[in-house]
Amino acid sequence: MHNGKARAFTNIALIKYWGKKDPKLILPMNSSLSLTLDAFYTETSVSFSKDYTEDLFYLDGYLQEGEKKMQKVSRLLNLARKQAGIYDHAVVHSHNFVPTAAGLASSASGLAALAGACNEALALNLSSTELSRFARKGSGSACRSIYGGFAEWKKGDSDQTSFALPVDANQWENELAMIFIITNDKAKKISSRNGMQQTVETSLYYNDWLKAAEADIKTAKNAIANQDFHALGEVIEANCLKMHATTLAATPPFSYWTPDSLKAMNKVYEMRQNGQNCYFTMDAGPNVKVLCPKKDSQKIYNDLQKEFSEQQLVLAHAGKGIESLETEVSK
Ligand code: ADP
Ligand code: DP6
Repeated sequence: MHNGKARAFTNIALIKYWGKKDPKLILPMNSSLSLTLDAFYTETSVSFSKDYTEDLFYLDGYLQEGEKKMQKVSRLLNLARKQAGIYDHAVVHSHNFVPTAAGLASSASGLAALAGACNEALALNLSSTELSRFARKGSGSACRSIYGGFAEWKKGDSDQTSFALPVDANQWENELAMIFIITNDKAKKISSRNGMQQTVETSLYYNDWLKAAEADIKTAKNAIANQDFHALGEVIEANCLKMHATTLAATPPFSYWTPDSLKAMNKVYEMRQNGQNCYFTMDAGPNVKVLCPKKDSQKIYNDLQKEFSEQQLVLAHAGKGIESLETEVSK
């Protein structure tokens, strides 16, 4: 029996990953940049044993049955077994301290935690870069959750060259906050994976998105290097809007937005007009995330409370990188 357990925090992309060049290897069309957060995370344990007759995956206590629900997990288990040179089946228990599949990055924390748990269980001794590359093959965004603070997933052009690295912000990440406006925590109808594929294949705006994303990542990295909040805010908000524009020009067209998403975005515009320092971003889901300086976060939170209930608002700060946890059963 080989046991391992890990905790990984979610990360929210400030410059989005949106589209795959190679869906099997999960090589992205563009580089992306994220902030790992402390409020949402996943804890996953895995055990490999010759006594097991099949792979089993329990999420929040419920057995996930069927190929679709097992897809991302199976991919990592198979790769881990190959690397370790074993054939044992595995049992995975995962707990999301984040709503699942709601556009709040459960796949990032979930697959990063599984990658970390496999690394522990099978003593793979992966470096951070190797662990990032491994997590990437479970879910692209997971490769950034290996690190705390800012991370950049460099798109690369092969399995070897596509992985995330930390972006040194001279601790500036600790002066920032992100407020989540949770308009809906239920699973979305179109997964990130399917949404981005449909967009790559059919969106009239996809090539323009790619050009914009390359330029935006440079602007964002400069803003981080200069600790320029407004420059960072402007580019991340515009980048998210450009990503969402691609879905409207897909066939068939689709959108992750709901009336409440628009209400939240308008509230951010309104607060900014009133002199507040805040910008939004949104992922593949209806929820809105507001980036602001930590020193202003309480005031912005209070203003948001005029429109949204306390249950809908979550205040987050920069989170840590992946960590190993003690397993209950000794090895
Ligand atoms: P999200 O916005 O939450 O990242 P995605 O559509 O990108 O939504 O991914 C959600 C999918 O990620 C789930 O349907 C499931 O397949 C996988 N996932 C989520 N949490 C976990 C976890 N803890 N362990 C393994 N896989 C997970
Ligand atoms: C909009 O990483 O969940 O959140 O690689 O297919 O598993 P797969 O997709 P996933 O997509 C995340 C998309 C996004 C943007 C981002 O996190 O960069």
